[in-house]
Amino acid sequence: MNMKALAIGIAVFGVCLTPIHAEEDVPDYTLPDPLVFEDGEPVEDAEAWFDQRRPEILELFREHVYGRRPGPPDSVEFEIVEEDPEAMDGDATLKRVHITSIQGEGEHTFQLILFTPNDAPGPVPVFLLMNNRGPENTDPTREEKSGFWPAEEVIERGYAVAAFQVGDVAPDSADNFREGVMSLFGDPEAEREPDGWGALAAWGWGASRVMDYFETDDAVDVSQAALLGHSRGGKASLWGGAEDERYSIVISNNSGCGGAAISRRRFGERVSQINDRFPHWFAVNFREYNGREHALPIDQHQLVALMAPRPVYVASASEDNWADPVGEFLSAYHAGPVYELVGGEPLPVDEQPAPGEAAHGTVGYHLREGGHNLTPEDWHHYMDFADKHFDR
Ligand code: GCU
Repeated sequence: MNMKALAIGIAVFGVCLTPIHAEEDVPDYTLPDPLVFEDGEPVEDAEAWFDQRRPEILELFREHVYGRRPGPPDSVEFEIVEEDPEAMDGDATLKRVHITSIQGEGEHTFQLILFTPNDAPGPVPVFLLMNNRGPENTDPTREEKSGFWPAEEVIERGYAVAAFQVGDVAPDSADNFREGVMSLFGDPEAEREPDGWGALAAWGWGASRVMDYFETDDAVDVSQAALLGHSRGGKASLWGGAEDERYSIVISNNSGCGGAAISRRRFGERVSQINDRFPHWFAVNFREYNGREHALPIDQHQLVALMAPRPVYVASASEDNWADPVGEFLSAYHAGPVYELVGGEPLPVDEQPAPGEAAHGTVGYHLREGGHNLTPEDWHHYMDFADKHFDR
């Protein structure tokens, strides 16, 4: 019996759950082509991409991966609960804003923290972090400082910097994730529709409500807003940026499985593992692909391509094998043909950059030396990328 053939047979016809940890064990795979319609016809020009193919791919991600999020609520209200024009030793103005979504009889409130530089001659571009770690990382008093959100360094480079807690929008737990904003749109106790939204989609929906607020704040240049998340937050930033085109740069840091990493590689965390451990993140339908990554109608390079022609950034860390740094690079790389078609610059390299190096086209990528984290080094790459793309 040829064991290799048997293994391939099991992988192709059955359910293969073995995680892969070495590059030589990555199976052969064929990526779905972003520039070929589901019926096999080629996408001939930018118009066909924007009018037909992009909506087709967006629908596939909604149906099979992240679930369908609702549109905006009936109304949104903003209350500035604190304003300090002398924050950061007078360098910045702090606003704490309560964002309340109102839907029928229901209401849900979460908090935005925003610092804007005081020496700016006009509205400035902003970075919004969807914070998946503790609130001490985004301390508005600045008594605690964290490299995860190096707010002073961002202000110093002339950008506004903002954050919200993803768990305030939808709790990050399979037990109660529907008790946040999702409860405005349906009974949290009812059975979830197979394509109903998961927590990642809800967090992105929260970022859209932040954008609604930015549109009302004269200190922020709303046409130049970057959406950034790390790890589970980076999965949510990519999907949030795909759903809300008002974000003009979308950044995913170490986002891994269900984020930037190519699922078909099966390297590090796999679809079955993420669905088992975090069943609340994705649509129920995503479980159909446990061990069957080859059957997915999309792969994650197509998610990156949904940002085109907006600048998009994928970043990895050299020791972050669980998130598959090579797979993350490849999704940024394989989004390239869409950028070429619609008038953007694909990644300017064919090979994954060495640790410490960055490659910035309209698609950006860097590989940081070290482990799974969001650090000031990552932030400075993102600001270099924004310097290149934003007008100031
Ligand atoms: C877990 C999970 C990852 C996720 C990470 C995080 O490791 O398996 O998919 O990215 O948590 O959010 O930190």
